[in-house]
Amino acid sequence: MLRYMPKAPSSGITARLALATDGARISSLLEVFRRELGYTVETTVPLPISHVGPLYCVLAEDHERDDLVVGFLAAYRCHNMVRGVQYVLITDAYVRSEYRRRGVATLLMNEALALGRRLGCQRVSLIVDKNNEGMHATAARAGFTEHSDMLLSCELEGGEAAR
Ligand SMILES: CC(C)(COP(=O)(O)OP(=O)(O)OC[C@H]1O[C@@H](n2cnc3c(N)ncnc32)[C@H](O)[C@@H]1OP(=O)(O)O)[C@@H](O)C(=O)NCCC(=O)NCCS
Repeated sequence: MLRYMPKAPSSGITARLALATDGARISSLLEVFRRELGYTVETTVPLPISHVGPLYCVLAEDHERDDLVVGFLAAYRCHNMVRGVQYVLITDAYVRSEYRRRGVATLLMNEALALGRRLGCQRVSLIVDKNNEGMHATAARAGFTEHSDMLLSCELEGGEAAR
């Protein structure tokens, strides 16, 4: 399969799986995301970040700005019991507006694909609104194709074909 070869990300920016201790920093970035969308959230639950729990968080940091969190992605490991398929489902991805079009989301998506491979999943899927052209374009460049109305998927090498 032809894969998008990402341009070199902006210097000094890397992505990694978040640790439980990153929860507060990611929560502050979530607030920036909510402000951009105009959402008000009355109560916020602490992020249950854990490498063994259900929520996997990936973050991107700018090491030239005191490790500022410039983007994050949230994903879950899902089991389709009927089809016997395991997959990683990405439910959120966000990049600070001033860091967009610099390959940050691509870094985050690649980290999610690596996570899927490590977990032995057959695919990584992404829930995204039909009208979100930016996310659709980003996902397409990372190798995702339309799976159904609001779902894009990327089959992992060695995994079974989409069922
Ligand atoms: C969608 C989003 C995550 C993309 O992040 P990003 O870091 O700018 O993406 P990248 O720089 O990795 O983009 C990779 C490629 O995807 C495409 N792309 C990304 N954003 C695009 C846009 N707005 N319009 C068209 N193409 C776009 C481009 O081909 C881009 O490569 P190029 O810059 O060399 O042309 C970011 O715009 C964002 O946070 N948006 C608001 C939150 C959101 O809608 N999240 C998705 C909900 S699941």
